[in-house]
Amino acid sequence: MTVYTTPPSPTRPIRSFVRRAGRTTTGQQRALQTYGERFVLPYEPQQLDLAACFGRVAPTVLEIGFGMGDATAQIAEGRPNTNFLCCEVHEPGVGALLKQIGERGLTNIRIIAHDAVEVLDQMLAPDSLDGIHLFFPDPWHKTRHHKRRLVQPPLVARLAARLRPGGYLHGATDWEPYAQQMLAVLSAEPVLRNSASGYAPRPAYRPPTKFERRGLKLGHGVWDLVFLRV
Ligand SMILES: C[S@@+](CC[C@H](N)C(=O)[O-])C[C@H]1O[C@@H](n2cnc3c(N)ncnc32)[C@H](O)[C@@H]1O
Repeated sequence: MTVYTTPPSPTRPIRSFVRRAGRTTTGQQRALQTYGERFVLPYEPQQLDLAACFGRVAPTVLEIGFGMGDATAQIAEGRPNTNFLCCEVHEPGVGALLKQIGERGLTNIRIIAHDAVEVLDQMLAPDSLDGIHLFFPDPWHKTRHHKRRLVQPPLVARLAARLRPGGYLHGATDWEPYAQQMLAVLSAEPVLRNSASGYAPRPAYRPPTKFERRGLKLGHGVWDLVFLRV
């Protein structure tokens, strides 16, 4: 069976992920075969025609790192008038989301099984997104790994530039020091403004994610942040 996740390019040494070992289940494999061609887009270092990919013109949200995609599928089902372009490098997760797409009959999700940073830089035009979801990005607890965290000024500037004015960036984390970093970095980005004073209440469209539930069992808190492009 085709492996949809594409190898990273050798030019960007610090990555926000390591490719985890993990078995793709028979159900996920079957979903990759059945739905992959329709819903998985290839990574190509050229600008994506979003209307052509989704077969319609609609507000588009980029999700970075959907994990097993349970929250993604629920959100897409609840927001049928929005397109969701979803990036994940973990192949079992891609299979799991495809399975949900099939079971729920969703048509408003497209997946790119590749590093979202490269997708952002190479495939998405300025002002092309209505929203960005960054739910429970890997917290990279150890100080020597902090450089792998996604929420840092250079990437946030590039994310903000892909949002149309009025678009939103919604992040969430269960790791308080990373929440503090997110709040500081997002607050310092000149073209973003905080929709709340400090952390935001969890927006109704976001169900608890798998990673979040794991954190809650460990006694972690949860911090949402919603910033708007000015
Ligand atoms: C901690 S998990 C959270 C998953 C999910 N959002 C949740 O809350 O359950 C972070 C996920 O982001 C993915 N990831 C990390 N960096 C990524 C990147 N640059 N591009 C795409 N996926 C990435 C990882 O493979 C992992 O599945």
